Amino acid sequence: MTLLNWQAKYSVGVASVDYEHQRLIEMINELATEIEGSVYTDAIELFLGELHAAISAHFALEERAMAKADYEELEDHKADHEALLEQIRCMMDEFVADPENGRKLLQESLTNWFGQHFATFDARLHGALGE
Ligand SMILES: [Fe+2]
Ligand SMILES: [Fe+2]
Repeated sequence: MTLLNWQAKYSVGVASVDYEHQRLIEMINELATEIEGSVYTDAIELFLGELHAAISAHFALEERAMAKADYEELEDHKADHEALLEQIRCMMDEFVADPENGRKLLQESLTNWFGQHFATFDARLHGALGE
């Protein structure tokens, strides 16, 4: 199941970073495919756990690069990463109550969040630091 589609407007202007982001989106879609149609709480919990882990691994790399470079926007950028991870944690209850609606909410929040984060924080970061 496709939760997220890559769009040209997501590009941060650095090919290797765009590739990383595309792979992250692919991974999210693969995880979503694994639980398609599932109504079992365990499977959904595992899915959200893996999704959270995959996304935070990507964020950790960016935060390390920012810390190493003494990047001035580190704190705000990190706070935006935390906001998405928190949203994913909060979605657990929605999924258990209503898996269809949970998936819809997750799709909306990932699309909105990635759309704005790539175009703002990540574009500025990779514009300043390159890869
Ligand atoms: Fe990123
Ligand atoms: Fe970021």
